[in-house]
Amino acid sequence: MTRVRAHAPGRVNLIGDHTDYAGGLALPMAIDLGTSIIGTREGDRLRLHSEQFDTDTDLRVPLQDARIQPDWARYIAAVAVEMNCTTGFSGLIDSTLPIGAGLSSSASLELATALALGFEGTPLELALLGQRSEFTAVGVPCGLLDQLSSAFGSEGHALMIDFASITVEQIPLPPELEIIVVHSGVERTLAGSAYAERRAACETAISIVGELRSCSTDDLAAITDPVVRRRARHVVTECQRVTEARSALLGGDGIHFGELMNASHRSLRDDFEVSMPVVDALVERLRAVPGVHGARITGAGFGGCVVAACEPGAIADPAAITGRGWRVRASGPARVELLES
Ligand code: GLA
Repeated sequence: MTRVRAHAPGRVNLIGDHTDYAGGLALPMAIDLGTSIIGTREGDRLRLHSEQFDTDTDLRVPLQDARIQPDWARYIAAVAVEMNCTTGFSGLIDSTLPIGAGLSSSASLELATALALGFEGTPLELALLGQRSEFTAVGVPCGLLDQLSSAFGSEGHALMIDFASITVEQIPLPPELEIIVVHSGVERTLAGSAYAERRAACETAISIVGELRSCSTDDLAAITDPVVRRRARHVVTECQRVTEARSALLGGDGIHFGELMNASHRSLRDDFEVSMPVVDALVERLRAVPGVHGARITGAGFGGCVVAACEPGAIADPAAITGRGWRVRASGPARVELLES
C-alpha cells in the first residue's frame, strides 16, 4: 500500500496555436491551476471520486476498454489501459481548472492520473502517454502541446516548444509582464469540434508544399484549395510570430509581445476560423483596457478562454470581467509525492 499525491498543471498557450500537429512552434506556460489526485495504490480496483462532478468510478484492473461513463472517468481508464496498469488505486480527484476551456484540463487529468498510478519515465514519455490516452479516451487526434506543457512546466518560465525536434526551451518571463486568463463563457469540447478537420487540412497542405514552418506565404500559392491555403497560411505566419515572440520575451518587450498576440488572434479568427463573435468581443474588450499589451483566444478555440498579457495591475480583478478569470503564474511540472508506504 502506497499513499501518494500527484499534481499536474494546466497550461495557457501564450502564442502558437494549431501548430503542434503540423511540426511547428508554440510558446505556452504551465499554470498554477491544475489537477490533483490523492490516494492509495492498492488492490485491483480503480476507485476514484471527482470533487468537481461529484461522481465516482469503480473499475477492475487490468482494463481493456476505456469507453466508459462518466465522461471524466474515460481519461482515467484510458491512462490505465495505456500503462497496462495491474495495481488498483483509491482516492480523490480535485481540479482548479475550468473544464473544456482551452487550459488543458484533460491533459492535466491524464498526467496526474499516470503519476498517481505509478508511472515511471521521462517527462517526454509522460507527455506521449498522455497524448495516447487522449486518443484512447475521446478519439481526439491532438498534438503534444498540452501534455508537454504540463510535463515540462517551469516556475517563472514560458516554454518554447519545437514540435519537429520535440525540444523544450525555458524562456524567462519578464517580471513586469502579467498574464491574465478570462473565460468567454462558451463551453467547448474538442471531440465535438472541427479540430480533426483543421488537422486534416494542415496535413493536406503539408503533402503539397512540405514542412509548413520552412515555407513562406508565397510558397502556399501551390495550394489550389482556398480553404486549405488559408489554414496553411495561419500555420506559416503563426510559427514566424512564435519566433518573434520568443525574442520579444527575451528582450523584455511586452508591447511587441502583445502585438504578436493580437496578430495571432486575427489569424486564428480569419485564416483558421476557430474563433467566434463572443470570443472576438472579449478580446476587443480586454485590449481596450489601458496597460493591456495584447489578447488572443488560447488553445483549440471554438469557445473557451482568452489570454492577455499586460502591465502589472492593469486588470485588477480578472474574475470581474465575465465571472470567471484568473491572474496566472508560470508553474512547475507535473509531479508526484510519496506520502506513506
Ligand atoms: C488542443 C490540442 C493541442 C493543440 C491545441 C491548439 O489544446 O490538444 O494539441 O493542437 O488544441 O494549439
